[in-house]
Amino acid sequence: MTDILILVGTESGNAQMVADLLKDELGRQGHRAEVMNRGTAADAGFERRDVVLVCCATHGDGELPDNIIPLHDSLKATRPDLQHVRYGVIALGDQTYHDTFCFAGKAMDALFAELGAQRLGERLEIDACTQPLPDEEALEWLKEWATLL
Ligand SMILES: Cc1cc2nc3c(=O)[nH]c(=O)nc-3n(C[C@H](O)[C@H](O)[C@H](O)COP(=O)(O)O)c2cc1C
Repeated sequence: MTDILILVGTESGNAQMVADLLKDELGRQGHRAEVMNRGTAADAGFERRDVVLVCCATHGDGELPDNIIPLHDSLKATRPDLQHVRYGVIALGDQTYHDTFCFAGKAMDALFAELGAQRLGERLEIDACTQPLPDEEALEWLKEWATLL
């Protein structure tokens, strides 16, 4: 059994929906998952976290959703050592925004890597333009990702 913190960046609810669904699925698999959609790095308590799953949409012109900015900015400012953390990333975006596709998920991925965390598996990028059901794609991705825990 693994404790997993799911960090959500959302404006209109898709990433939240995916996170809630994955929380339930991870629970069914015997893990203990917790979803966090606001707060800072201190609130996340990274010193006691082993596995983190970032589930983050992109908004504006390649920007982070408002709710995850305090977390992102406090990580940038305090730069905790996350070498003990393993993480995964689900980035939600839309290929219509060609130049900024999934930028926020990519930025969170880069930030965790910068702080020493080890990514488990490949980042999932869900394109709202071609995938009307992000939850199904995320569940499919989780099958592989969960084997890495
Ligand atoms: C105003 C607006 C701006 C967006 N900008 C981007 C963008 O720059 N890059 C991208 O990949 N997707 C962009 N998207 C697409 C969203 O990331 C996508 O619809 C996602 O599923 C929304 O997730 P959420 O409901 O969790 O916020 C944008 C969507 C909206 C409505």
